[in-house]
Amino acid sequence: MKRSALRDLSERAVTVLASVAVLAACATTTMMSADEAIPARQKLMKEQGAASKSISDKAKAGQIQAIVADAETLAETSNKISSFFPEGSLNPAKSRAKPEIWQKRAEFEGYAKLLNSKATQLAATARTGNAQATNAAIADLGRTTCGACHNAFRGPELKK
Ligand code: HEC
Repeated sequence: MKRSALRDLSERAVTVLASVAVLAACATTTMMSADEAIPARQKLMKEQGAASKSISDKAKAGQIQAIVADAETLAETSNKISSFFPEGSLNPAKSRAKPEIWQKRAEFEGYAKLLNSKATQLAATARTGNAQATNAAIADLGRTTCGACHNAFRGPELKK
C-alpha cells in the first residue's frame, strides 16, 4: 500500500516534469518576442534577397545548374517565415510588417508554403539544365511568392 502510493507519487512527478519540459519547448519555439522576431525575420528576408540575386546572376551567366543550391536555400528559409512573425510583433517604427499578417494569417502562411513548393520546383528544373524552363520558373517564383506577399503584407519603406 505504502509502496504503491510512493510509486504513484513518483510517477506523477515524472509526468509533471515532462509536461513542464514540453511547455518550455513550446514557449521557446512559438513565443518569440517582438524584439527577437523583427531582426530575425529581416535577416531571414535578406538571406532570401541574396539567394534571389545569386539566382538571377547565375541565370544571366547561363550557369543554370548552379542555381539548384540557391533554390534549396529558399526552400529552407521559407519554412522559417511563419515562426518569425509571432502575434504581437507589429512595430511600425522598426518593421514593415503590416497588421494584415495577423488578420489574414492563413493567406500569409499560404505565400510562405507556395514559396517552399515553387523553390523546390525551381531546384528540380534547374537540375535539368534547361535554361528556358529555369528562367520561366524564376520569373514565376518572384511574381507569385516574393512579390505577391510583399504587395499584400509589406508596408512602405521606413523613414530613417
Ligand atoms: C509570406 C510573405 C513573404 C514572402 C513569401 C516573402 N517575403 Fe520578403 N518580406 C515579407 C515581409 C512582411 C517583410 C517585412 C519584414 C519586416 O520589416 O518586419 C519582408 C521583407 C523583405 C526584405 C527586406 C528585409 C530588410 O529588412 O532588409 C527583403 C530583401 C525580402 N523581404 C526579400 C524577399 C524575397 C527575395 C522573397 C522571395 C524569395 C521574399 N522576400 C518572400 C514577407 C514575405
